[in-house]
Amino acid sequence: MRVFFTHLNSLIIILISFFFFITSSTSLDTLTGTQILKTNQTLLSENQTFVLGFFRGSNTNYYLGIWYNNISPQTIVWVANRDNPIDNSAGHLKIGDNGNFVLLNSSGNPAWSSNQTNAKNPVIQLLDTGNLLLKDLSDTTNNNYLWQSFEYPTDTLLPGMKVGWNLDTGTEKHLTSWKVEGEDPSSGDYTLKIDYHGLPEALLRRNQTIIYRNGPWNGERFSGIPGMKDNTNDLKYNFTYDEHGVWFSFSVTEPSLLSRIILSSDSDGQYQRYMWIQGRWNKFSYTPKDPCDYYRHCGPYGVCENDASPICTCMQGFRPKNQEAWNLRDGSDGCVRNTVLNCSTDKFLHLENMKLPETSSVFMNKSMTLDECGSLCKRNCSCTAYANIDIRNGGSGCVMWFGQLFDMNVHRPGGQDLYVRLAAADIGSSSSNKNHRAVLAIGITLSALVLVLGLVAICYLRKKRQQSSRGDQRNMDDLKLPMFNFDTLMMATNNFSQDNKLGEGGFGSVYRGRLIEGQEIAVKRLSENSGQGINEFKNEIKLIAKLQHRNLVRLLGCCIEKNEKMVVYEYMKNRGLDSILFGLEALARRNYIDFD
Ligand SMILES: *[C@@H]1O[C@H](CO)[C@@H](O)[C@H](O)[C@H]1NC(C)=O
Ligand SMILES: *[C@@H]1O[C@H](CO)[C@@H](O)[C@H](O)[C@H]1NC(C)=O
Ligand SMILES: *[C@@H]1O[C@H](CO)[C@@H](O)[C@H](O)[C@H]1NC(C)=O
Ligand SMILES: *[C@@H]1O[C@H](CO)[C@@H](O)[C@H](O)[C@H]1NC(C)=O
Ligand SMILES: *[C@@H]1O[C@H](CO)[C@@H](O)[C@H](O)[C@H]1NC(C)=O
Ligand SMILES: *[C@@H]1O[C@H](CO)[C@@H](O)[C@H](O)[C@H]1NC(C)=O
Ligand SMILES: *[C@@H]1O[C@H](CO)[C@@H](O)[C@H](O)[C@H]1NC(C)=O
Ligand SMILES: *[C@@H]1O[C@H](CO)[C@@H](O)[C@H](O)[C@H]1NC(C)=O
Ligand SMILES: *[C@@H]1O[C@H](CO)[C@@H](O)[C@H](O)[C@H]1NC(C)=O
Repeated sequence: MRVFFTHLNSLIIILISFFFFITSSTSLDTLTGTQILKTNQTLLSENQTFVLGFFRGSNTNYYLGIWYNNISPQTIVWVANRDNPIDNSAGHLKIGDNGNFVLLNSSGNPAWSSNQTNAKNPVIQLLDTGNLLLKDLSDTTNNNYLWQSFEYPTDTLLPGMKVGWNLDTGTEKHLTSWKVEGEDPSSGDYTLKIDYHGLPEALLRRNQTIIYRNGPWNGERFSGIPGMKDNTNDLKYNFTYDEHGVWFSFSVTEPSLLSRIILSSDSDGQYQRYMWIQGRWNKFSYTPKDPCDYYRHCGPYGVCENDASPICTCMQGFRPKNQEAWNLRDGSDGCVRNTVLNCSTDKFLHLENMKLPETSSVFMNKSMTLDECGSLCKRNCSCTAYANIDIRNGGSGCVMWFGQLFDMNVHRPGGQDLYVRLAAADIGSSSSNKNHRAVLAIGITLSALVLVLGLVAICYLRKKRQQSSRGDQRNMDDLKLPMFNFDTLMMATNNFSQDNKLGEGGFGSVYRGRLIEGQEIAVKRLSENSGQGINEFKNEIKLIAKLQHRNLVRLLGCCIEKNEKMVVYEYMKNRGLDSILFGLEALARRNYIDFD
């Protein structure tokens, strides 16, 4: 009997799938020459990851956009007509006479168009990457598209999208925030642009004013974002520059782990990186977040360190320009030299862990060594500092500064070496040096609390993928969790220090920590004699994931490495965290057998 039902079930599923296949064989992800897309219709990408359709802003206007399917609240990643909405539902999208797709308002006037050259048999296709293509029907590869939405970013960077400069054509792509986050998609005040002058870096601006710069790319990461390190496992950043262009992008090795970068108008303009974990967007990374992140916070020759007090200090050989303001913790006037430079007798001060100064008007040469760089700088009396461009493999390349040095931070660990020109008399002034060292020592201790999460070292609990037929929601229930590096967690919890310990139970201990990108976490470290095997542990994680309730502590991932098993939760202040962590575990154990 049971067997019969099982077969019947399969039969029904096959029939339904077949029916579905027939009815949708025109494809839900494409729009061909004669079809139109009305404001109440959508395109769905092949694996149902993204939707193209119309949404309404808080001004009740209609916008054509792309968002994630099955994710609530609606998360829009691209908007076609952000500054030219259509005002009622009679508008629609179609392929126009010249082979472009056009968005028409109710009186038939174009509100927006793809603006390409003629295509014979144009089709519009929405891909599972979130990219919208205009291509020729005969092209089945997606390689010869005529137009793609990825080349027109709004406020969101998806894996595979890039921002930067094509220096051959002089064209540029950047992110522009919404006017009001989540409400008004029209172009907002904030932009994130790559500046190609000197040594390229990204600048976050409000209108024309720079709020934040991330420091130049040092081969591994931006010099001002210590936690941003290429991670082999899941997420990779790619920054390239040469005489033809400067590009920034990121990619993921496991596309089912949804990830996006946005420029938000919240928090006075913020770069944010999110990952979809267990039914919520988790903000893993955001910047600016600390006072030192704000552009030129300590003025010329001032160095900012978040863990120091006060956060602004003058470099060795310099003193505050405006001592009164400095005493009042306003470092924006910066510092002046104790001794004027002499040129021929000057020496260079070696600083470590620095976010390199502003690089828009520097000299650079990618093939020079540090020694060549140093002697060139010494010979040129207007050269005030130099450094390597690339820190990999012992360092290479030369960047030289002329004039004042701005916007330097200390990041421990992170940053890179910088050599600053000083009058010989200021090099040996060991008392200030000692002071500096003492501050450093304290800084080191403190900053250990906020150590690196290189961009979330993530590996992934692979689960065999379920064949997804259209309409199959089971994928959403799969356990998709980042796998954290042991080192990342060790640094986040200050080497599992007693100070960070929140509690202890039969299973092991729970620690509080902070990932360098900002996320506060609680780490449950199972004792080695907990007797659990890897598979049991994985089952338990799944179980906790299932048991999770919106109001409980959120599971962020886990770590299985070096005989260690750890569970990573979001840390929430003012919560009975212990009871939740420990209670959940008890619950999980009790229900172990029922669930599996
Ligand atoms: C879409 O709106 C049109 C009227 O503009 C209506 O006839 C049609 O039934 C609607 N379709 C859906 C799926 O709601
Ligand atoms: C869609 O999902 C199937 C099965 O999971 C996978 O093999 C295929 O590569 C996916 N297609 C795209 C475009 O992601
Ligand atoms: C349609 O667009 C045209 C041109 O932009 C404009 O003049 C007209 O008022 C719009 N019609 C409606 C109903 O929005
Ligand atoms: C399309 O091209 C026209 C003429 O070159 C230009 O005025 C218009 O801004 C373009 N539209 C878009 C959406 O790029
Ligand atoms: C930015 O520019 C817009 C438009 O010119 C203006 O309305 C807004 O007040 C400006 N914002 C700031 C912070 O200056
Ligand atoms: C990095 O980006 C450049 C330029 O966009 C591209 O040519 C290159 O293939 C990318 N590298 C990787 C590893 O994705
Ligand atoms: C630099 O120092 C040398 C040696 O002390 C001295 O002879 C020279 O005059 C100084 N030059 C300047 C420009 O001060
Ligand atoms: C860069 O430095 C190398 C080695 O000193 C030199 O051969 C090359 O000409 C320099 N390139 C430029 C563009 O200055
Ligand atoms: C120092 O370098 C700058 C920038 O490359 C250059 O303009 C200037 O001529 C150099 N000065 C000397 C004395 O070499």
